[in-house]
Amino acid sequence: MKSKRLLFSLLPFVGTAFAQVAAPYTDSGNGFVFDGITDPTYGVTYGIVLPQANTSTEFIGEIVAPIAAKWVGVAFGGAMIGDLLLVAWPNGNDIVASTRWATDYIQPTEYDGPTLTTLPSSLVNSTHWKYVYRCQNCTSWQGGGGIDPTGTGVFAWAYSSVGVDDPSDPESTFQEHTDFGFFGINFPDAQNSNYQNYLQGNPGTPPSSTTTTTTSTSTTTTGPTASATPYDYIIVGAGPGGIIAADRLSEAGKKVLLLERGGPSTAETGGTYDAPWTQSANLTKFDVPGLFESLFTDPNDWWWCKDITFFAGCLLGGGTSVNGALYWYPADSDFSTENGWPQSWANHQPYTSKLQQRLPSTDHPSTDGKRYLEESANVVVQLLSKQGYSNITINDNPNSKDHVYGYSAFDFINGERAGPVATYFQTAKARPNFTYKDYVLVSQVVRNGATITGVRTNDTSLGPNGIVPLNPNGRVILSAGSFGTPRILFQSGIGPTDMIQAVQANPTAGANLPAQSDWINLPVGQGVSDNPSINLVFTHPSIDAYENWADVWSDPRPADAQQYLTSRSGVFAGASPKLNFWRAYGGNDGFTRYAQGTVRPGAASVNTSLPYNASQIFTITVYLSQGIQSRGRVGITSGLNAQAITNPWLTDTDDKTVLLQALHDVADNIKSIPNLTLITPDPTMTLEQYVDAYDPSTMCSNHWVGSAKIGTSASNAVVDQNAKVFNTNNLFVVDASIIPALPIGNPHGQLMSAAEQAAAKILALAGGP
Ligand SMILES: Cc1cc2nc3c(=O)[nH]c(=O)nc-3n(C[C@H](O)[C@H](O)[C@H](O)COP(=O)(O)OP(=O)(O)OC[C@H]3O[C@@H](n4cnc5c(N)ncnc54)[C@H](O)[C@@H]3O)c2cc1C
Ligand SMILES: *[C@@H]1O[C@H](CO)[C@@H](O)[C@H](O)[C@H]1NC(C)=O
Ligand SMILES: *[C@@H]1O[C@H](CO)[C@@H](O)[C@H](O)[C@H]1NC(C)=O
Ligand SMILES: *[C@@H]1O[C@H](CO)[C@@H](O)[C@H](O)[C@H]1NC(C)=O
Ligand SMILES: *[C@@H]1O[C@H](CO)[C@@H](O)[C@H](O)[C@H]1NC(C)=O
Ligand SMILES: *[C@@H]1O[C@H](CO)[C@@H](O)[C@H](O)[C@H]1NC(C)=O
Ligand SMILES: *[C@@H]1O[C@H](CO)[C@@H](O)[C@H](O)[C@H]1NC(C)=O
Ligand SMILES: *[C@@H]1O[C@H](CO)[C@@H](O)[C@H](O)[C@H]1NC(C)=O
Ligand SMILES: *[C@@H]1O[C@H](CO)[C@@H](O)[C@H](O)[C@H]1NC(C)=O
Ligand SMILES: *[C@@H]1O[C@H](CO)[C@@H](O)[C@H](O)[C@H]1NC(C)=O
Ligand SMILES: *[C@@H]1O[C@H](CO)[C@@H](O)[C@H](O)[C@H]1NC(C)=O
Repeated sequence: MKSKRLLFSLLPFVGTAFAQVAAPYTDSGNGFVFDGITDPTYGVTYGIVLPQANTSTEFIGEIVAPIAAKWVGVAFGGAMIGDLLLVAWPNGNDIVASTRWATDYIQPTEYDGPTLTTLPSSLVNSTHWKYVYRCQNCTSWQGGGGIDPTGTGVFAWAYSSVGVDDPSDPESTFQEHTDFGFFGINFPDAQNSNYQNYLQGNPGTPPSSTTTTTTSTSTTTTGPTASATPYDYIIVGAGPGGIIAADRLSEAGKKVLLLERGGPSTAETGGTYDAPWTQSANLTKFDVPGLFESLFTDPNDWWWCKDITFFAGCLLGGGTSVNGALYWYPADSDFSTENGWPQSWANHQPYTSKLQQRLPSTDHPSTDGKRYLEESANVVVQLLSKQGYSNITINDNPNSKDHVYGYSAFDFINGERAGPVATYFQTAKARPNFTYKDYVLVSQVVRNGATITGVRTNDTSLGPNGIVPLNPNGRVILSAGSFGTPRILFQSGIGPTDMIQAVQANPTAGANLPAQSDWINLPVGQGVSDNPSINLVFTHPSIDAYENWADVWSDPRPADAQQYLTSRSGVFAGASPKLNFWRAYGGNDGFTRYAQGTVRPGAASVNTSLPYNASQIFTITVYLSQGIQSRGRVGITSGLNAQAITNPWLTDTDDKTVLLQALHDVADNIKSIPNLTLITPDPTMTLEQYVDAYDPSTMCSNHWVGSAKIGTSASNAVVDQNAKVFNTNNLFVVDASIIPALPIGNPHGQLMSAAEQAAAKILALAGGP
């Protein structure tokens, strides 16, 4: 659950390590000394120079772009939303530019306040365009953001290979950027005593300390190298797939290395990102279930992967450290051949049982056994009871998913987030055969034809050039998630040709690609699915919307905070979902599709002409799951950012028909519940109009599956029935990428059962270490 739109895809972030950091350079055209970067993919240079005064409110910036750049943007606070944005493009011999503002991941609009002046060294020639500008009243902007000339900051850039709609109009609309990136900047490095001269168009006398002369910025440092330790199994990514595989393989006596690009999450793992009120108890945002909604409103959201255009967790636990933790034991149909699984996977129950033993579900996470904030559930139960639904304990009846509702179930333990991090990871960590390294980014597997010999990382302390080798007969398991695993495969020369060519176009990654004769063509990224989800927002006088979760981080209700700190009970022991329901639908095309509902107090957004009481809002999210036919495609840009090349939501007309039917059914008897009001959509819109107007990317549920599908043939699958990548000898995938089609419920329960089964199959497969 939860959706995020595209464009820069991010909010501000602090404390992240950047691929690029601004460094001083001299523009040989005008002689000005800027602090900036040249992005290695598109060759665009971004520079800034500030006056030597800590109170200055202006700066000079420049963008030097090859003519292939149709428009270029800069976000001066590193975020798209609530940030000062600048866009520029060439028009004939002129540069057209404007400052912009965005309140969401949509077209940024005009932003008044700053004064932009084009400086004379701007130019358009046959190969480049250059925009040198003075930006006055540009170091602070509405909402409190700004540039501190004495501090550090983050800039984001956006690049497009598609021209704007009206190049002569500074306020022209344009399509979403083709790529984006970030760089860190230390503003004192950008201060220059010649600033006033620059405004006059002359470079003045370069300060003797600033003698840098080239625009080159990123130098590859060859750090200390250690003699590398080889492993039986190298597992890439510490999400649920990777953690479970690592635990089971180390348990079997194998020497296992688990590599994770992010850092600690929960306090138990060394995490320290505590809410002000949880510090005394040493509990992080990731520990306290009731802080879940604050993951989406925190301006310092360092846990999201910054190079993926959808929410994905880049920290220990992956998605399971940041998800809603809705946890369903899989239905038998989730592993059926009808749902795309090889016949050999149908008997999932032994693996599901192993999972249940390690990680039981609870539908009453508060340690006192009581349920809290249940008003929305009670209202929806009244609606559903009149539609022939019955009340069950969902995880006692995993196969029963038609006309049923029950309390939401989670993998919380003792009132705290648990998941695989508090269970499987802890047992693995205790074994001498298990090694865990965080903040290590894997770019590719290193291979000799079909045989993988190691993985390439960005950590030269792990081996020469950062390469970690395998023992003889050793194996690599990719568990980097539905976007991360495809990206590693593409960089390893495995996938559709167009994606490997995108890697080839990247100067760094391209240099490490295997020879074209060794490329392995597989449908990586193709045929992915994610639940399309639509929010219906209601009000009812019985509801406690809990301030829409806005105060849970910094200003919680004192009694609830105290209760949680004292005994891990009360509202904070649970996440926002309260009730779930399912219904089966036959489709015109003969496929049975399942609709799932999730009920929670509060709402992500309200759009209504009705007067309403914001303290009484709640949401029913209706999504389509097993049986959906819509598929999309996951891929990368040449900047190696992962994205959806084709959106997977409602591309199939029968999917849309069924989802609309499900929405109508939910809304059918609203009037039978006194004072229950549907406010979004409001009566000015039909459900059909509402769905038609829904921004497709906000239908995202972050339940991506199928980007490295399991199957029986290399023509339509990426891994075989042992989770081994086709046409390789020793490369495996264990994460949501292998799931061929969506399960009935939110996927991580099914995924963890699948990881148990995959680990068993990999151990049983002959030829390993
Ligand atoms: C906001 C949100 C809410 C969700 N809510 C629910 C829910 O309530 N219930 C549910 O069942 N599912 C939910 N999901 C989905 C669920 O979390 C995912 O299906 C699940 O986490 C997928 O697990 P995975 O092992 O495939 O990958 P991930 O969990 O994505 O883990 C991949 C790991 O690999 C690491 N990694 C990636 N690339 C590299 C690299 N190159 N080098 C090193 N490490 C790398 C990442 O940092 C990450 O730790 C939600 C997801 C999100 C994002
Ligand atoms: C600007 O701030 C820095 C650090 O805060 C300080 O060292 C410097 O002296 C200040 N410069 C001026 C001109 O005030
Ligand atoms: C500076 O910009 C802000 C908006 O960021 C605007 O409100 C303010 O009026 C501007 N000040 C001047 C002096 O133009
Ligand atoms: C065009 O301008 C750019 C930026 O100043 C410069 O690097 C490039 O050499 C120029 N090209 C030509 C053909 O003059
Ligand atoms: C794994 O650990 C056990 C002891 O816990 C040891 O006997 C065995 O040799 C180890 N295996 C490897 C491959 O290191
Ligand atoms: C926080 O708790 C964890 C265990 O849950 C412990 O390892 C860590 O040292 C504690 N940190 C502090 C600052 O108390
Ligand atoms: C549903 O059943 C459970 C378990 O029997 C019970 O605790 C709960 O009150 C029931 N809910 C409703 C709305 O009847
Ligand atoms: C490797 O990448 C990770 C993730 O981006 C980062 O945190 C880490 O600092 C990098 N390591 C090195 C040595 O650059
Ligand atoms: C809000 O609803 C109106 C119709 O009631 C619609 O025209 C408009 O596009 C909606 N706005 C958003 C942001 O969805
Ligand atoms: C709005 O709802 C809250 C909570 O139910 C209630 O206390 C308040 O009186 C309501 N406000 C109005 C204006 O009805
Ligand atoms: C519905 O609202 C009206 C006034 O708005 C109130 O008189 C009535 O008691 C409410 N009914 C219920 C069941 O809450």
